[in-house]
Amino acid sequence: MPSELVHLSLSDSIATVTLNRPDKLNALNGEMLAALDAIADELDRNQDVCVVLLTGAGKAFCVGADIFEWSALSPLEMGRRWIRDGHRIFERYARLPQPVIAALNGYTFGGGLELALAADLRLAAAGVHLSFPEVKLGIIPGWGGTQRLPDLIGKSRAKQMIFSGARIDATLAESWGLVNEVVEGEKLMERANQLAGEIAANGPVAVQMTKQLIDGAEMIALEAMAGSLASYTKDAQEGVDAFRERRTPQFRGQ
Ligand code: COA
Repeated sequence: MPSELVHLSLSDSIATVTLNRPDKLNALNGEMLAALDAIADELDRNQDVCVVLLTGAGKAFCVGADIFEWSALSPLEMGRRWIRDGHRIFERYARLPQPVIAALNGYTFGGGLELALAADLRLAAAGVHLSFPEVKLGIIPGWGGTQRLPDLIGKSRAKQMIFSGARIDATLAESWGLVNEVVEGEKLMERANQLAGEIAANGPVAVQMTKQLIDGAEMIALEAMAGSLASYTKDAQEGVDAFRERRTPQFRGQ
């Protein structure tokens, strides 16, 4: 679903997805979730895209879920739609074949931080603050934060952030391994594009396979890799030839 609230731009082999609701600090509403979902479809299919950049327009990367939108939902709508959509869509970004780099240009709070955690790498502009303020609203980080944050920085620091709801700055986030690099604000996109370009210059299949392996490739991903390798063996060719010629195949383990 195309939306003015999330832009996709393609330049060479780098796709940039920009959250574009700056007047609301890119708070994520249903329209933006649907747009992110549709963009994930396109990125997943587009083999010309080697790296995906995620960023925000204005002074925030994203301040989380739209409080006015979710607070108007019934518990059932919240559970069946809002939470599950967020989980599913963020997981899609985590599992895109291409590496995803989140360029954190400003406030990265709540669902915004959860989206950033779904990326493979995070660069932050100096001075940016990150937090999970949900407990201050009496709710929890429900789009993967309680799972992805401890995976990345360990349970103890994750608990500190999530229990307190306190902000940490980019420098502390870097020392905790929550962001990869802190960059001077005006240089953020330049550095993000430079890093994306470095990655994009490498063999895309090799890069994508390493992403899956590092992320602990699920059986289905291993099956896809093994299936494509097996279909290119001489034995597979022999199997197909034997079928066509109605004879018993002579496999050689090659
Ligand atoms: N959902 C919906 N709207 C939000 C929002 C959110 N999570 N966060 C900010 N906005 C809106 C504000 O309502 C305001 O809209 P308005 O101009 O129509 O009144 C606009 O974005 C700007 O926000 P404002 O609070 O005026 O900016 P600020 O610079 O003074 O403060 C923050 C910035 C990020 C500190 C503050 O907006 C904030 O704490 N936001 C909530 C963060 C949060 O709790 N996220 C978790 C959500 S589950």
